[in-house]
Amino acid sequence: MTEPIERDDVTGRPTTGHAWDGIKELNTPLPSWWLYVFYATIVFSIGYWVIYPAWPSLTGYTPGLLGTTARGQLSDQMAAAARMRGPWIEKISRQTTEQVAADPALLAYSIAGGRAIFAGNCAPCHGAGGQGAPGIPVLADDEWLWGGDIVNIERSLRYGIRGTHPDARRSEMPRFVVDELLTPAQAADVGAHVVSLAGESDDADAAARGAAIFTEQCAVCHGDTGNGDMELGAPDLTDKIWLYGGASANIIAQISKPRHGVMPAWEGRLDDASLKMLSIYVHSLGGGQ
Ligand code: HEC
Ligand code: HEC
Repeated sequence: MTEPIERDDVTGRPTTGHAWDGIKELNTPLPSWWLYVFYATIVFSIGYWVIYPAWPSLTGYTPGLLGTTARGQLSDQMAAAARMRGPWIEKISRQTTEQVAADPALLAYSIAGGRAIFAGNCAPCHGAGGQGAPGIPVLADDEWLWGGDIVNIERSLRYGIRGTHPDARRSEMPRFVVDELLTPAQAADVGAHVVSLAGESDDADAAARGAAIFTEQCAVCHGDTGNGDMELGAPDLTDKIWLYGGASANIIAQISKPRHGVMPAWEGRLDDASLKMLSIYVHSLGGGQ
């Protein structure tokens, strides 16, 4: 039984026959292109369920005809990345770090790779861009404790500093007051002299007395003028860059009972190519010599 189609007076369109409080509903069907796209997505989703993992089950999920897994995709991607890395790593391993740094393509590769390794291994101590922290040297300036050319950087990081590796860099400042090499008063005097090396001491007499002690006790490592000695990892005391603070109290504490930074050896923990890439990256940070 078909009812006669009622048309709306104003628009002239057919109505659905529904009316609420005298308001009639126009019959405006979905455009056919929209409907076909909708049907197509249904067909597509059924195909997707069949081919890919889709439905959860009590014990797992439907695996799909292709047997795709996220883990499988990841290991494919890792294998592809390793295939791409292989030739680079091989070239880096075969050459000395300086030769690698002299080849523009390998240099760029090493800086990018070194940055990633640095972020994972070194940044916890040295900071994200090598900006350092109290007791931990800045790697991005041109002030070096042990030398900032590539060879010395690589040596510092391969064997470490004051760690357990037999080739670790070592040197220790005597515990002047604790071991009674200097009295506390003498330590204060030489402290005043050190303050005056980097700026101005507010006690010129003490600084003058301290200068003589410095020549006797400190110059052997820190140099006559306090410029430091990279063979011994003895810092430049004139440059206003301080590991342990530049206030007179910090300096006197260091003279009385010195602190010594320890850095672990990385040889054996990181592979040879990583160590070379890291050395090149650290050298590139801005302060390489
Ligand atoms: C546990 C903290 C720690 C970690 C991790 C660490 N370092 Fe160090 N590093 C130090 C300390 C402390 C010193 C300073 C030692 C000293 O006082 O002579 C240092 C010194 C250095 C130096 C010598 C700086 C100079 O002025 O001569 C280099 C180069 C260096 N680190 C590179 C690295 C690299 C590259 C890594 C990552 C593979 C790394 N460090 C990881 C603590 C760390
Ligand atoms: C045997 C060598 C040696 C002698 C002698 C020595 N020092 Fe040092 N000094 C060092 C080393 C090495 C360091 C760095 C410690 C570190 O890296 O953690 C240092 C660090 C310092 C620091 C800290 C610098 C900073 O950046 O915070 C001061 C200050 C200092 N020495 C003053 C003196 C004074 C003053 C004397 C003489 C009374 C003296 N030192 C004698 C080796 C020496």
